[in-house]
Amino acid sequence: MKTKRKSEVGFSNLLVTGGCGFIGSNFIRNLLNDTTFSGRIINLDKLTYAGNPENLEGIAADFGPRYVFQKVDICDAAKLEKVFGEHDIDAVCHFAAESHVDRSIKDPGSFIQTNIVGTFNLLEIAKARGDKFKLFHHVSTDEVYGSLGAEGLFREDTPYRPNSPYSASKAASDHLVRAYYKTFGLPATISNCSNNYGPYQFPEKLIPLVILNALEGKPLPVYGDGKNVRDWLYVEDHCDAIWTIMTSGVIGETYNVGGNAEMENILIVQLICDILDEIKPATDGKPRRQLITFVSDRPGHDRRYAIDFTKLKAELGWSPRESFKSGLRQTVRWYLNQKKWVENIKTGAYQSWMKEQYG
Ligand code: NAD
Ligand code: DAU
Repeated sequence: MKTKRKSEVGFSNLLVTGGCGFIGSNFIRNLLNDTTFSGRIINLDKLTYAGNPENLEGIAADFGPRYVFQKVDICDAAKLEKVFGEHDIDAVCHFAAESHVDRSIKDPGSFIQTNIVGTFNLLEIAKARGDKFKLFHHVSTDEVYGSLGAEGLFREDTPYRPNSPYSASKAASDHLVRAYYKTFGLPATISNCSNNYGPYQFPEKLIPLVILNALEGKPLPVYGDGKNVRDWLYVEDHCDAIWTIMTSGVIGETYNVGGNAEMENILIVQLICDILDEIKPATDGKPRRQLITFVSDRPGHDRRYAIDFTKLKAELGWSPRESFKSGLRQTVRWYLNQKKWVENIKTGAYQSWMKEQYG
């Protein structure tokens, strides 16, 4: 077992998996513009329905040889091995996953393959690189801890109790990463984060779905009684937390990441309606709140998530910068301004999924 040490700054060839998704694309853009990083990013993505190269429009042109894209499935071990060798990968930031809980209820198979088998493949190949390999950072979720009642917070030592196929597959991948650190000394860190929101989020998740439906005058589906609670974090704050952990976290450790912004779903939906009514009133003049429609609950729907991120704050000095109120307003404006991006998503696979879900 390697002794506990801080991760090393100065990764030369950082493999980012799932870099065309929501958080991964924000992470890549931020990092390439960050003066503390001078290496190359190899963005490896299968481009599922959630992977959109448009999320990184202009990046290849702006960053030339420092940015490379590889369309590869993390379940394809042979292709992965080739990428690691060709690009002399010395660190991994692992975002690639099937990420949507509702899809995991309808069709769990791809979650098992990508989130568990894909993570296993990456760990095996990283391990085989021996001392050349500096860090495997695994991006995970607070959903692995299960559901809270009215009180309490998830801490790093909260027992795992995942309730959906998605969270169970992420829990399995967390365990694999930890096991590769403990058993093989693979230098690894893990972060478990709460709900993200912000630019480039695929409109199957609550916030972008509600923004786009409200703009089109469509129903705003609220599951169950709408009183489920999530803790919300602006995506750039999450990216900043990940980079903080990668550059100054302790190898072998897990860090919880949260936004100090607990909110009932129904309040978020109402807030979005009010922001839109203010900055882009409906053509019929009616308040958007009338579009709110309570629908059947999500099976196994976790009631409340809340994060204690004291460890990350006290040990590594990270805190979220964006407040939920201003972050949400910025996000609504972003979706209003990105007409081409929105149109392209709507005419793609998202359309058929929406049809299947909501008719
Ligand atoms: P996303 O669904 O927007 O993006 C996932 C990306 O992974 C896509 O680009 C997709 O094409 C790619 N991908 C999927 N399967 C792949 C495969 N087999 N091989 C290669 N690439 C593949 O997800 P996101 O919201 O950006 O989440 C990124 C990571 O962060 C996930 O691991 C998720 O569990 C975790 N996370 C997300 C949140 C959140 O609120 N969105 C919160 C905490 C943790
Ligand atoms: O907590 C972190 C997790 O947050 C991440 O690990 C997941 O990848 C990410 O998808 C997110 O999971 P949630 O299930 O919490 O996010 P979602 O946006 O799907 O739902 C947020 C809440 O809103 C949840 O309580 C379900 C509810 N909801 C969701 C949708 C899509 C609705 O009421 N109506 C909806 O149409």
